[in-house]
Amino acid sequence: MGWNERLDELSTMRTEAAQGGGPARITAQHDRGKQTARERIAKLVDPGSFQELDAFAQHRCHDFGMEQSRTLGDGVVAGSGLVDGRPIHLYAQDFTVLGGSLGETVAAKICKVMDLALRHGTPLVALNDSGGARIQEGVLALAGYADIFYRNTRASGVIPQLSVILGPCAGGAVYSPGLTDFILMAEGTSHMFITGPEVIKTVTGEEVSFEELGGAAAHASKSGVAHLTGADEDQTLELVRSLLAYLPANNLEDPPPRPTGDPADRRLDGLPELVPADGNLGYDVRELVRRVVDQGEFLEIHEQYARNIVVGFARHDGHPVGVVANQPAVLAGGLDCYATE
Ligand code: HXC
Repeated sequence: MGWNERLDELSTMRTEAAQGGGPARITAQHDRGKQTARERIAKLVDPGSFQELDAFAQHRCHDFGMEQSRTLGDGVVAGSGLVDGRPIHLYAQDFTVLGGSLGETVAAKICKVMDLALRHGTPLVALNDSGGARIQEGVLALAGYADIFYRNTRASGVIPQLSVILGPCAGGAVYSPGLTDFILMAEGTSHMFITGPEVIKTVTGEEVSFEELGGAAAHASKSGVAHLTGADEDQTLELVRSLLAYLPANNLEDPPPRPTGDPADRRLDGLPELVPADGNLGYDVRELVRRVVDQGEFLEIHEQYARNIVVGFARHDGHPVGVVANQPAVLAGGLDCYATE
């Protein structure tokens, strides 16, 4: 084969890999109000900055007719990119390929970017849309999750790990996020559960909807598993970019300052009207936080959960700061086990 033929073949393989599970599956993904892995990555990172790894990797399974079902890149798109000019490593599970399920090759691709993120000291962002361990690959899939969970724990406290839930995620596809620092969910289209409503019905006889079992609202307000939710995928990915802007790349670096044009010695007017002199009267501490921080910008974490404490990120004199404030408007700001989690 000459060079031209080889280059043609490479180009054909690139086109095929970009199609994931094929046009019909992509249409089904869009019909569910979801985007493909590559569309999501394009929205998350700075334009043109994504560098893909292992785009042509395929699974090696021969059981259950799996040799008939091989896709270039398998069920995940992985690599690196820039967010506001700062490097991150990321992976996006591709639901169009066997429901984004995780087998040996998918796990190896994910572990490679996790290792690179740790070695280079960059945040790791996971876009999850997966039915969990690939049933056909059996114990190899489970071992793949063990490799991922191990890396989640090694990276904990060293680099920021963000998990974004963008589809029906079950099994290992939610255990790994559970070990990471922040979980973001898209309202209406993302779900997190150990196993889906069908299995729950079979095993316990209980009928429960996707939303009740593991929707964004349930995890943002009841379980506290979701730190942030977006109205849709685009807003959720925008929240990832906003959150990253407050975080250091790793435990040896400072968080990035950003000039805000808000003088640190600005005088705060109107506080006596906001904070009652009578300690028995409540007020909304979030309003106080907004007045204190630069330009009134406050990214509240766990907005719907344990509302008696207010936590989040803001800037002061251009430097990112974490905010922890008792909320007198809820339970008189008293601490309980949920607030201290
Ligand atoms: C292989 C899977 C899969 C999986 C989904 N698919 N999950 N294939 N392994 N785990 C396939 C489906 O067969 C289907 O293929 C396609 O992906 C799309 O799935 P649908 O069911 O049509 O989509 P939807 O109705 O949206 O439901 C999504 C779902 C459901 C809720 C995730 O598929 C589901 O409940 N899957 C099983 C989830 C589960 O119990 N996983 C636990 C894995 S155990 P076709 O070709 O039919 O369209 C685990 C343990 C880890 O992860 C432990 C680590 C130590």
